[in-house]
Amino acid sequence: MKRIHTFMLSAFIAVPAFGQEAAPSDTVPDSGPALTNTTIMILILLAFMILMLFVARALLKAAQAIEHAALNPQKPASAEPARMLEYAEWVALKKAKKAPPIWNKVLGLKPIEEESSLLLEENYDGITELNNPTPAWFMGLFYATIVFAVVYLLSYHVFDLGKLQEEEYRTEMAKAKSDHETFLANAANAVDETTVTESHEADVIATGQNLFAANCAPCHGDKGQGVVGPNLTDDYWIHGGKINDIFKTIKYGVADKGMISWESKLTPKQIASVANFILSLKGTNPAGAKAPQGDKEG
Ligand code: HEC
Repeated sequence: MKRIHTFMLSAFIAVPAFGQEAAPSDTVPDSGPALTNTTIMILILLAFMILMLFVARALLKAAQAIEHAALNPQKPASAEPARMLEYAEWVALKKAKKAPPIWNKVLGLKPIEEESSLLLEENYDGITELNNPTPAWFMGLFYATIVFAVVYLLSYHVFDLGKLQEEEYRTEMAKAKSDHETFLANAANAVDETTVTESHEADVIATGQNLFAANCAPCHGDKGQGVVGPNLTDDYWIHGGKINDIFKTIKYGVADKGMISWESKLTPKQIASVANFILSLKGTNPAGAKAPQGDKEG
């Protein structure tokens, strides 16, 4: 029996190996992972082998049963006629017949008193052997792993139904990367007048400069020297010269004085950049600078 099991196992290991060897030489370049003749052949072969193995197993079991019957002829029934039990005898019998612990059932164990019934006929110079078959649950598990292996192999390697680990890893990493990017973009845009911070980073200032030239220069001058709007390069501010104040002025504007609200036209990130650009203009003293307005700060 053991030999049959080993054979079954090795057959299952060998068949996929053939399949893998045969696959590359037989794949048609443009037809994708379709059912090739080789695959069908392997499947039929596999099914046939499984059938053959079960037939072999059944035959072996039958042979064993016949052998067992031949070696253990039925003892003739006791000649003693049946008699009524005394009550005390019956109680003693009941007590002796304790139900075996559930573990014994699950593990297929026999109580030690019944061990002698497991003794095999063979006797090698006084060494005897117990017939302790592997419990059914274990065999069930064993066959289940084989079935699982076949299903797994077919679905992942033959029919490409699922993603292999490496592909799964790649998709997850790609998703994490794009999630990270959206998160960063959102985080940069989550800024408002209470959280905005001063930045001297070159790309922030450069973005701010471009935005300023495109949107603000007509009123504040190309160098921030002031036209209709006030000079943004001096130390005097009408609405405050800290980064938070400047951000707030740009975001909400000063409607009745001609400064537009930029909240709907620029993203929070853009407002932060242009505010930082304005801060970088401090003390540049451009030609034709407008006279200071507001209160001196800093
Ligand atoms: C239509 C003309 C106009 C445009 C365009 C304009 N501003 Fe102004 N801005 C003004 C005026 C006018 C004021 C003065 C408001 C006041 O007197 O309260 C002002 C004030 C400001 C102040 C406050 C200055 C202070 O002293 O407190 C800042 C900062 C500012 N603007 C930034 C910008 C930025 C950045 C842009 C471009 C995104 C811009 N402005 C576009 C007209 C403009």
